[in-house]
Amino acid sequence: MEKVFVMDHPLIQHKLTYLRDKETGSKDFRELLTEISMLMAYEVTRDLPLTDIEVETPICKTRSMVLAGKKIGVIPILRAGLGMVEGVLKLLPAAKVGHVGLYRDPKTLAPVEYYYKLPTDLAERELIVLDPMLATGGSMVATIDLLKKNGAKQIKVMCLIAAPEGIEVVHKAHPDIPIYTAAVDQCLNEKAYIVPGLGDAGDRLFGTI
Ligand code: PRP
Ligand code: URA
Repeated sequence: MEKVFVMDHPLIQHKLTYLRDKETGSKDFRELLTEISMLMAYEVTRDLPLTDIEVETPICKTRSMVLAGKKIGVIPILRAGLGMVEGVLKLLPAAKVGHVGLYRDPKTLAPVEYYYKLPTDLAERELIVLDPMLATGGSMVATIDLLKKNGAKQIKVMCLIAAPEGIEVVHKAHPDIPIYTAAVDQCLNEKAYIVPGLGDAGDRLFGTI
């Protein structure tokens, strides 16, 4: 699949299995999601530009690489995307964080926007949108629409589990956006939950089941 990067690192896959397990409670769910998000951030940032500076080692002067200072924005989709913020910020502590509040209408499955607050300099930032679940793709498309409307130029999607249906919907609406995911699952069920998935990510994260 074009522009879909599946992160098959053994540590990510191991932790994802325990996230899927229905016996995993909220405390462990939060910890695992934080750990996976940090590991995924490592891959998502693989193409960040570098520049070389002079540094003096105990042996001699040399030139060595540092990040070129590209500005990053992290955009969690509420609620479940909040569970990925801490892990990503551990690797990218200077990133600004914008929030997008959306929920899926249980009948129509259409995304309903209830809140957003974004960094003012979106156009200058590389944005990483965080949401563990890419199901029908409606929430992600609405978020990318909103970001582009507010000037965003460079966007990446980072999710945990994607359904093939959601990937197709996002790529049809926004063919320029790469999707980084830990797994592409089988399909959606009749309630548009990902199969096998992990259930309702927001409820499992915050213990609201
Ligand atoms: C979940 C999930 C995504 C969305 C994915 O959020 O966190 O945002 O569903 O579904 P979609 O691809 O079909 O749009 P939900 O609507 O349950 O809201 P919540 O996180 O506040 O519980
Ligand atoms: N939202 C979730 O939290 N889980 C799914 O499987 C689909 C949408």
